[in-house]
Amino acid sequence: MKNIVAIILAAGEGRRMKSSMPKVLHPICGKPMIQYTIDNLKQIGLQKIVVVVGHKSDLVREQVKGVEFVLQDRLLGTGDAVLRAKKLISQYKNVDSLFIACGDVPLITSETLRKIIARHLASRSGCTLLTAHMKNPTGYGRIVSSGDEKITKIVEELDASIYEKVIEEINVGLYCFNKDVLFDALEKIKPDNRKSEYYLTDTIEIIAKSNKLVDSVSTNNAEEFLGVNTRGDLIKVEEILKSRLMDNIMKRGVTIIDPANTYIEDGIEIAKDTVIYPYTFIEKGVKIGARCNIGPFARLRVGTVVAPDVAIGNFVEIVRSKIGSHTRIHHQCYIGDTTIGKNVNIGAGTIVANYDGKKKNKTVIDDNAFIGTGTILVAPVKVGKGAVTGSGAVVTKNKNVPAGGTVVGIPARPIKKKAGRKER
Ligand code: UD1
Ligand code: CA
Repeated sequence: MKNIVAIILAAGEGRRMKSSMPKVLHPICGKPMIQYTIDNLKQIGLQKIVVVVGHKSDLVREQVKGVEFVLQDRLLGTGDAVLRAKKLISQYKNVDSLFIACGDVPLITSETLRKIIARHLASRSGCTLLTAHMKNPTGYGRIVSSGDEKITKIVEELDASIYEKVIEEINVGLYCFNKDVLFDALEKIKPDNRKSEYYLTDTIEIIAKSNKLVDSVSTNNAEEFLGVNTRGDLIKVEEILKSRLMDNIMKRGVTIIDPANTYIEDGIEIAKDTVIYPYTFIEKGVKIGARCNIGPFARLRVGTVVAPDVAIGNFVEIVRSKIGSHTRIHHQCYIGDTTIGKNVNIGAGTIVANYDGKKKNKTVIDDNAFIGTGTILVAPVKVGKGAVTGSGAVVTKNKNVPAGGTVVGIPARPIKKKAGRKER
């Protein structure tokens, strides 16, 4: 894989999204759509990835990680976009093949990427491309073959003749090219088409005519190359990605009772025998241990780590917090920037006031503590081991509750122990 560089085309505006954000940055299951292709390419061992940016390129540069960027300042077509990367790629040593993908096809799996590359490396063709058969191929480039089944060219929908329009084999938009063959062909393409653009797909005819092999891998999995062009596509793709993520989680021994009514993001970890009840939201990066019960109606936000055997019930929101094992947070709570120990009971309606109007402050609730119903903990504050807060207590900032202590009231004050009363 060392000799292959990937180029992702992402300079387009995505006009049909009707968005002020570049299309490739729209999140799907919490991750910008372009990042799926990047992560899959990295997973199969392609380390060098060049992203061609144009429309609102600053935003893309800011949010997309682990790649290099080149600018296409005028959107002159996919062929021109690839040429913008030539200078950068010529600085890399020993590159002989280029893998080219679009930034708006996040469902393509790493297996498919691997298949195209393996085929290309085996056949040593000028170009290996992914094709698919479609009953309604509207909008896609058609694969034109000669009598002996050799691919001779790709014709774009707008430029296709009526004979070509009925072709059901289409260009998915994923290719592996021999680098020198491609750059030579790119110098020869002309914008003599309906859109007056430099089409990457016009290189196919040039390569075929120069007697180099144009090879293909075809896929039957129509779902995989669904591109995102509209908000409707975005939702369709999100649904498919979400169900893939859920399948993976369930395969590891987790029950998701009602997948259709559960929202999860990419990059979460849930250990086995945990049960996720309906209407639960779990954001990226959240980790949940084994044998937990989560939801219904729970919202676990970024930075939340839940130990095993924890119960989190309805209308509980947790963000940037650690929850120790055997802790119970059953009803209507907000827990933010908090570290909670083992075997803690958080009463219904407990609120951690983590934000003082300027910054977020931290709260610690130690092992075996018992937080009474409707307690407000004004951060920064610490509740010690085995300590108790009474119902409705407002524990004000820095008024830490000592281990074993009990506080009640507004503002919360310690209860004085009567003489002779036994320690808890
Ligand atoms: C392209 C293919 C078509 C294929 C289809 C699959 C060409 C000419 N056609 O058509 O054969 O069936 O994809 O989805 O390649 N882009 C740039 N710079 C540009 C123009 C486009 O970076 O100047 C990027 C876009 O951001 C997008 C990708 O290239 O990510 C594809 O461009 P688009 O105009 O959407 O091509 P299609 O018409 O879909
Ligand atoms: Ca497209």
